[in-house]
Amino acid sequence: MRTTVGIIGGGPAGLLLARLLHRAGIDCVVLESRTRTYVEHRQRAGMLEQGTVDALRECGAAERLEVEGLVHHGIELRFDRERHHLDFPALTGGRTVTIYAQTEIVKDLVALQLADGPPLFFEAEANGIGGALTEAPVVHFVHDGYQEELSCEWVVGCDGFHGISRHVVPASARRVYEHDFPYSWLGVLADVPPSCEELIYARGERGFALHSMRSPSVSRLYLQVPNGTAPVDWPDDRVWDELAARFAIDADWTLERGPITAKSVTGMRSYVHEPMRHGRLLLAGDAAHIVPPTGAKGLNLAVSDVRVLARALIAFYDKNDPQLLDRYSELCLERVWQATRFSYDMTRMLHAQPDGDAFDHRMQLARLRRIAASRPAAAELAAHYTGLPLAL
Ligand code: FAD
Ligand code: DHB
Repeated sequence: MRTTVGIIGGGPAGLLLARLLHRAGIDCVVLESRTRTYVEHRQRAGMLEQGTVDALRECGAAERLEVEGLVHHGIELRFDRERHHLDFPALTGGRTVTIYAQTEIVKDLVALQLADGPPLFFEAEANGIGGALTEAPVVHFVHDGYQEELSCEWVVGCDGFHGISRHVVPASARRVYEHDFPYSWLGVLADVPPSCEELIYARGERGFALHSMRSPSVSRLYLQVPNGTAPVDWPDDRVWDELAARFAIDADWTLERGPITAKSVTGMRSYVHEPMRHGRLLLAGDAAHIVPPTGAKGLNLAVSDVRVLARALIAFYDKNDPQLLDRYSELCLERVWQATRFSYDMTRMLHAQPDGDAFDHRMQLARLRRIAASRPAAAELAAHYTGLPLAL
């Protein structure tokens, strides 16, 4: 098989890139190792920056999002048994965020792609990339039990953190920066209307908790738990009791409980792979970088990478201009490091440190109090949360 751009991975990054290229008349093929059902039901992100919504809108993938997406004008910070509202439009000159699940974005993009192309193969697992430093790279993959080849002009690794693409870059040509956090998140999905209108980020003595949502009838909640925690250690009543304790304030507020329909544990890590280009292999999204989920930057970064990449490939094919492709890594990494710093600080400010002492706790409270009391401090958080402008 032959194409112009071979895309490994049918997550949000790969599917959106395929859509953007297809609309610009550039051939591509997407190889996804999992089944359609699996990728459409993998519970993950839910908070979209304005720029992510704009990108989906621009490529005609926002029809359902316009109807079902929940536009949020701020978040609530809870600490010291008090609530503090951050008003994003007032702090950022009008910016908002939208709650719409990653599962739904993937469903929308898969449906569009299966309706009018480009080709998308499920259960097609890439197991090698050859010729990254030539003008004719090849992706080796297994499909229907057969070993196949996809000959390309460019290969884009959108295969997430556990993919194969970035491992093709030799150790001598890459730099890796990473940090593991000494706690994880237990995430639950519950059939109960959210107990809040906006997301709540709570820092309590017992650890961090986040109240998010998926729709007016489905809540998404997260709890800080020790690394190594198994979901079976947390029966539903224990989850609700702990959430209620961590969200508790000295005011009239109740956490509504309901049936929990999904439970999973996610580790927390910062990871950046530099550069994001190696010859004719380009990396995008989680394949190149991971942030801890506090602040919801992962999916949004994946989308901003492919927006830059689509523009760069379009400039290359329409105007014979390689400059943006040459600067792809540099343009993305600037934003990646800003999001890495923001997610790291949000994580450190809101989680109980397992080995922390009273001094650490006071530092966290001092940061939170400053954000609650100072407009510039709140505006800085709001600018990052709603998303920095694209570098292009
Ligand atoms: P992925 O979604 O990981 O997609 C990669 C795809 O490649 C997968 O479908 C995989 O099956 C496929 N693949 C892997 N290897 C191969 C191979 N060898 N061959 C073919 N295909 C392969 N981000 C936010 O912005 N906002 C949030 O609110 C948020 N909340 C989160 C909450 C949780 C609990 C978690 C875990 C993450 C959250 N994130 C959030 C992060 C976000 O989900 C990821 O950053 C996002 O999925 C990255 O998209 P991607 O397309 O780069 O990678
Ligand atoms: C969600 C996840 C996050 O990490 C976050 O900061 C906000 C929302 C979510 O899944 O809805």
